Amino acid sequence: MTELDKKQIGVPVPADWAYARLQERYGHFVGGDWLEPAETYTTISPATEEPLAEVGQATPEEVDRAVAAARAAFENGWSGLAASERAKYLFRIARILQERAREFAVLESLNGGKPIKESRDVDLPLAAAHFFYYAGWADKLEYAFPNRRPHPIGVAGQIIPWNFPLLMLAWKIAPALAAGNTVVLKPAETTPLTALLFADVLRQAELPAGVVNLLTGDGRTGAALVEHPGVDKIAFTGSTEVGKAIQRQLAGSGKRLTLELGGKAANIVFDDAALDQAVEGIVNGIYFNQGHVCCAGSRLFVQESIYEPLVEKLRRRLETLRVGDPLDKNTDVGAINSAQQLAKIRELVASGEEEGAQIYQPPCRLPEKGYWFVPTVFTEVAQSYRIAQEEIFGPVLSVLTFRTPEEALEKANNTPYGLSAGVWTEKGSRILWMAQRLRAGVVWANTFNRFDPTSPFGGYKESGFGREGGLHGLEPYLRFDE
Ligand code: NAI
Ligand code: MG
Repeated sequence: MTELDKKQIGVPVPADWAYARLQERYGHFVGGDWLEPAETYTTISPATEEPLAEVGQATPEEVDRAVAAARAAFENGWSGLAASERAKYLFRIARILQERAREFAVLESLNGGKPIKESRDVDLPLAAAHFFYYAGWADKLEYAFPNRRPHPIGVAGQIIPWNFPLLMLAWKIAPALAAGNTVVLKPAETTPLTALLFADVLRQAELPAGVVNLLTGDGRTGAALVEHPGVDKIAFTGSTEVGKAIQRQLAGSGKRLTLELGGKAANIVFDDAALDQAVEGIVNGIYFNQGHVCCAGSRLFVQESIYEPLVEKLRRRLETLRVGDPLDKNTDVGAINSAQQLAKIRELVASGEEEGAQIYQPPCRLPEKGYWFVPTVFTEVAQSYRIAQEEIFGPVLSVLTFRTPEEALEKANNTPYGLSAGVWTEKGSRILWMAQRLRAGVVWANTFNRFDPTSPFGGYKESGFGREGGLHGLEPYLRFDE
């Protein structure tokens, strides 16, 4: 038996599809009811390419109906409701998400390809935590923003990506409702199913009709929502390219906008860091969720004196990662979300090899069907290479080196992005020195990819503007009489 066989053996423990309770076909959720879609497409499992369900591709007319439903709900009750009543709905939603966590986790992994242990232990608890957190603020806005007299804005149009479908929905919907707005949300075209299941949570929570409307569809639906004159605020998470297009489109319209876009985070390891811990943080930083993470630690900067032992430890750790069935509880790295994303990863990886970087991939047996990419490390990477500059959004790490803290800082900040960064050192003063100078919205110290609803998240430069999470996350959904 080869080492590879030994690694791949072990009893597979896939979660049961039945928990997901799939319907054959879904409509749009508009005004508290299901709207039969005029056009549909098939959503699939990226791990098997099997069709899962038919979902709607919302047309401009359907966008118009959803915006009208949101406007009516805003004006006929929701914005005037006692804030403590609004809070009750948010608490209910949070509790129902906890109660139905298994159903949601299985559906999330089935439709998006992420390992069940991540959807179960990260996405679901954090989604519920966001609703709990913002429920707590709903009736305390005047204390949160003293002397500023906060009011809701109106109808929020929200467009989210496919990497954390339910979690991004929670990040968007919870603060919008806590602030007294109504919502039209569009999930990404490859991962519509947990948003559609969320409609059932809203029904169970008895949220008034039209307060949250859910439309599925691709970028055409998103563009129609952005353009719609009845929308007061757009919140977008996705590619920098589309973010820029939205900003151009909205210029002069008076609509409010927040953008959470890409990243190319530096994860910086100094020679005094606890190496084994750092290796865990590096692995979590780039291979968590197949690297489909806007704040992923995709550029590793290692101090020269520890370069060899660190890279050796990293390679050995990579050999233990299990790639495969997202529904198997032992899986560490699941399926790539779509054929389109896989093609993008392959193209960038090929550019790394052509430009002269050294590629390392552990031995790994991939399933025959579905979209997969072996966890990859590039060494001998120059700063000018595309793999050091562009967001790959896949399980691919580029390793670079530095000698002094100043050099680490200069290289880390040499990027058009500025979403997150990580620093590994035992020296507290160095952590503070780096954190003050890194141009990144979030800086982690001796950890990576940690999230909490109380902590604001967002970017600098081409990573976007506006913050989600914490008190900062309420501000984009409020106007003030100052
Ligand atoms: P995308 O930006 O096209 O998609 C994100 C969302 O925007 C989806 O819901 C999509 O339907 C919608 N959308 C697309 N075009 C639109 C338009 N013109 N107007 C309004 N909404 C529109 O991202 P895509 O193509 O899925 O991924 C491309 C790259 O973007 C990835 O490889 C990755 O580098 C980056 N990305 C970053 C994300 C982040 O979390 N910051 C999330 C997803 C992708
Ligand atoms: Mg796109």
